[in-house]
Amino acid sequence: MYPLTAGLIVESKELWEELKAALEPLGIRLVFESPQLPEAWMPFLERIDRVQPDVILVEVTRLKEPLEAVVKRLRSTSAQPAVFALHNSAQPDLILSALRAGASEFLYPPVAEPLKQALERLAEARQKAGEKVPWGGKTIGFLSAKGGCGATTIACHVAKALAGLNAGKVLLADIDLQAGIIGFLLKTNSDYSLADAVNNLQRLDLSYWRGLVSNGTPNLEVLTAPTAPAAKQLPSGHVKQVLAFARSHYDWSVIDMGRNVRAGTLSLLDVIDETYLVTTSEVPALHQAKQIIQILLDAGYSRSQLRLVLNRTTRRTDVTINELETIIGIPVHATIVNDFETFYQAFSEGRLVDSSSVPGQDFARLAAKIAGVTEPVRKKRFSLFG
Ligand SMILES: Nc1ncnc2c1ncn2[C@@H]1O[C@H](COP(=O)(O)OP(=O)(O)O)[C@@H](O)[C@H]1O
Ligand SMILES: [Mg+2]
Repeated sequence: MYPLTAGLIVESKELWEELKAALEPLGIRLVFESPQLPEAWMPFLERIDRVQPDVILVEVTRLKEPLEAVVKRLRSTSAQPAVFALHNSAQPDLILSALRAGASEFLYPPVAEPLKQALERLAEARQKAGEKVPWGGKTIGFLSAKGGCGATTIACHVAKALAGLNAGKVLLADIDLQAGIIGFLLKTNSDYSLADAVNNLQRLDLSYWRGLVSNGTPNLEVLTAPTAPAAKQLPSGHVKQVLAFARSHYDWSVIDMGRNVRAGTLSLLDVIDETYLVTTSEVPALHQAKQIIQILLDAGYSRSQLRLVLNRTTRRTDVTINELETIIGIPVHATIVNDFETFYQAFSEGRLVDSSSVPGQDFARLAAKIAGVTEPVRKKRFSLFG
């Protein structure tokens, strides 16, 4: 489901508990909660403007103001949230006036099922609207066909190269909960990670976010993966909310998705515009790559969103690009040269490889292709696969 954010204005304790229980499994991010409508509207509306909820769930059981005025006010904010009216019992006369007032739903206990359906309808509508108007920046994921193919290496270097293109702000986010290593590779020394974002979705705004990411390179901020064993299980619905938040604040979000695909990975796909599957030309990696592509396509991911990156290419090879494309079934989007020495040297000095090195130029070319700008001309080209 398209990630939604919601605000709650609910007074009855039972209703509030019922709602929380119904919202939890849907991965809806709550951006504010309040027991009642405000005395002073201005600061309240400003707050709504800041947190931009997709929907406000407002209890209308004991309303002190005319319903129509309340709905109008809530909808007058820049987020133009949908308003769902809630009542602790069915009230046929109120249902009609709530809907007339501009509420899109009127819900009463048991709320779980009708609420789920209403949110699904809203998510669908928001997604359709989002398809017309580009929704925030672009999110690109790097996925390793098999551990060790180079997804992390490429994600780091491409993020840095994208930042160097001055094509906007770039986030590099490590969501590889098993083997997240970006914090170490980039020497971020951050005390915070993706787990802090996930565990504090409710307070997630720009000022909180700034405390979580680290920066050292202009235009580039980094969100690391958690290292504590307890944080290695994060609900993918919540990770998705974090990615959706990131996309609204960065021009580019580069995501290290780790290796292989799990159910969690699949559920993230609707916030990932392009997935760069990184493989080498080794047979086991090719086998895995082919399987992963099939899984992604079966899950409804579009072929046009899939990119194959062939890493560690050498002059000597048993298989040509054409043969490889036939085996895998999608074109090779980019190649990165094999260069053990350069990586070894850079990593042992605690830095990324220079942009002028041969792999550095491959990363720059890939970044330029991603950003849609003219590709830099390579100084030296390993002609590979003829
Ligand atoms: N093009 C390359 N040439 C040489 N070594 C590479 C190249 N790409 C990656 N490596 C090395 O391969 C190892 C695994 O890379 P990594 O990015 O961690 O893989 P993954 O994230 O796919 O598991 C690292 O030691 C990295 O330095
Ligand atoms: Mg990795």
